[in-house]
Amino acid sequence: MDIQKIVRRDLKGAAAYVPGKPIEELERELGISNIDKLASNENPCGTPETAKKAIMECLDKIYLYPDGESYSFKSVIAEFHKVRYENVFTGNGSDELLQIIMHAFLEPGDNVISSQHSFLRYGQMTRIAHGEYRQAPMTEDMRYDLQAIAGLVDKRTKIIVIANPNNPTGTIVYDKEVRALLDKISDDIIVILDEAYAGFVESKDYPDALKLQKDYPAKPIVMLRSFSKIFGLAGVRVGYGIAPAELVKYINVVRGPFNINMLAQAAGIACLKNASQHAKSSKELCSGEKKYLYESYKKLGVKYFESEANFILVKIDDRHDGKYVVEELLKAGIIVRPMKSWGLTDNFMRITIGTQDQNKRLIKELTRLLNKDSKAAADVK
Ligand SMILES: Cc1ncc(COP(=O)(O)O)c(C=O)c1O
Repeated sequence: MDIQKIVRRDLKGAAAYVPGKPIEELERELGISNIDKLASNENPCGTPETAKKAIMECLDKIYLYPDGESYSFKSVIAEFHKVRYENVFTGNGSDELLQIIMHAFLEPGDNVISSQHSFLRYGQMTRIAHGEYRQAPMTEDMRYDLQAIAGLVDKRTKIIVIANPNNPTGTIVYDKEVRALLDKISDDIIVILDEAYAGFVESKDYPDALKLQKDYPAKPIVMLRSFSKIFGLAGVRVGYGIAPAELVKYINVVRGPFNINMLAQAAGIACLKNASQHAKSSKELCSGEKKYLYESYKKLGVKYFESEANFILVKIDDRHDGKYVVEELLKAGIIVRPMKSWGLTDNFMRITIGTQDQNKRLIKELTRLLNKDSKAAADVK
């Protein structure tokens, strides 16, 4: 077999997405335990009890296919957001929903515009769906530059995708900036507001995607939400979107008939009905720990970007060797996310905000590593 003859031309040499290192992998590699994974922006408060209970109650039924229409789940989402049932769609994580949208709407050669230093999956998915991926530069304060995005729009622009808050910078775009973009672009460009981290946002200037949909009824504005973060269901894979019904119709054509499993539907319903306290305390923990981490980073001389999400992008000083620091943190049982693949240097890391104990341990290890000359240590290795 000659794989080069078989594989799609535009996929040759493409690499698979590398997620944050799983705990089990580090245990296998280094033979250590007591590992803190601060690499994939999961919720350190875990999963709401009500969602676990809902999953347990499903177990006797899992020999059956799930409801392919997700009727109950979509009804609960519609009620929760006060929108019509026809505007709701659900998926195996918001990641799958992004893929479905790209497959439903991109013709070969259409382009998708997003930003530099944003969620890596946007580019991958665009290319897999035969599109061209364009990235606008960021503002100096590491935010999406929506004016620069508008400048990249042309006749083949089909989708603009905005991670809000952005991963990995944790920054947001403001309501007035989104409105200015919407005022400029054609009604035939889909604007996706990817709000995976919305549950953690504190800023008053955060756009209300549903209000934008109301104010711009002619525009295909899509709001995407994830249960992986604020509701602690990353392992179950569940996300949803709200969009004009005309779009939802075609999203349903492209999605798999049972793309959202029974456990995910049950857990999602339980979260929206009975987990507001869990979401509140997760947000409060994150907000309080952010203050501790900012203070600690300041003392350590580590540059950080103020975040509206449950992670912080940091940059350690250039006298240190970032790769070495990441490796040493791994040896100490702390997994963080190096940022080279995001177009940043080795000295940038994205670190999830963990529990108080996890954050203290992180700062203790960073203090140890940054107080010695990690560049010199890396050189003698
Ligand atoms: C910006 C952004 N969007 C979407 C996702 C996908 O989330 P999920 O598929 O777990 O719902 C992530 C995951 O980390 C993300 O960071």
